[in-house]
Amino acid sequence: MKALVLAGGRGTRLRPFTHTVPKQLVPVANKPVLFYGLEAIKAAGITDVGIIVGDHGPAIQSAVGDGAAFGLNIAYIEQHAPLGLAHCVMIAQDFLGDADFLLYLGDNVIIDGVGPLLDAFWRSRPDAMVMTGKVGNPSEYGVAEVGPGGVVTGLAEKPATPRSDLALVGAYVFTPVIHQAVRSIKPSWRNEREITDAIDWLLRSGWRVESHLHGGYWKDTGKAEDLLECNRAVLDTAERSIKGQVDDTCVIHGPVIIEEGAQVSGSRITGPAVIGVAAVVRDSQVGPYTSIGADCDIAGAAIENSVVCAGSTVRGSLRNSLIGREAKVSGDIGRPASLVLGDHSQALLHGAAS
Ligand code: G1P
Repeated sequence: MKALVLAGGRGTRLRPFTHTVPKQLVPVANKPVLFYGLEAIKAAGITDVGIIVGDHGPAIQSAVGDGAAFGLNIAYIEQHAPLGLAHCVMIAQDFLGDADFLLYLGDNVIIDGVGPLLDAFWRSRPDAMVMTGKVGNPSEYGVAEVGPGGVVTGLAEKPATPRSDLALVGAYVFTPVIHQAVRSIKPSWRNEREITDAIDWLLRSGWRVESHLHGGYWKDTGKAEDLLECNRAVLDTAERSIKGQVDDTCVIHGPVIIEEGAQVSGSRITGPAVIGVAAVVRDSQVGPYTSIGADCDIAGAAIENSVVCAGSTVRGSLRNSLIGREAKVSGDIGRPASLVLGDHSQALLHGAAS
């Protein structure tokens, strides 16, 4: 069993972040989204991994390297344009050979990982197995119709009138017959070869496709609000760990992680929250549900339900915000601001009276 991880794509739904950083490297609870997938793959016992990269390939390669840090052997495969998930399988055929493989979408975070999916695949050995999850907005996903015994009977990519509430989660297990399927389909209206169409081709050609229902949390982190939601879900699994310095005037409440070299003074930190390596937090309120990246400089601030990436400076009040790396936020509008700022941005906030 090999794994193919998709980390190409332009991440247009996560601009301005993705002008400078691939969506798979945006941090959730101070860890790049892609690392959750790689760790899940390793935990499931797979070590040979191909990563499909696009325009942001060099950033992905420098963050992940040869995979040794994850206990993985990683090969990189370049996709010259984002032509679809099934196109990724086409260009990975040499890497995959005749192996069964796990296809993992690198912008998905699946709490509990892919072990249960692989176990289910090995138990019944269908020609393909999809992971599904119940959602309230199925038309934003690939949707599966599932019959008795988990047998998939129909599939549609982002249907206007979904025939079930079961979304395709970003993890699939394929046998080599998928290579025939990805070559047999045509690009969709968005000019992409859809993996959903390739699986539908399998169904229509008489191959057996099964669904493994994932009961736990998962998220496609392709949009800002989804990233904040995912940050909340991952922080909810956090346990208290204080490695940095916290002075006597601080109140630390609930599951709070304060990483090495961080310095917190005169502040109230309400978990779940994480303060990154060597960050400085002074005279502030942080949390709940907030991730402060490494080397941030937070002072006279109140930050709630937000992600602040490494090296940023915040003065003032933020809520429901995503702040890129080395950004600067200051000022006061008399209530918490909600911002999505890309790397190196500056926001000077003025209230109506100032
Ligand atoms: C892709 C798939 C879709 C799946 C989703 C899961 O959508 O095409 O079937 O439900 O990932 O994250 P995309 O993110 O490309 O819109």
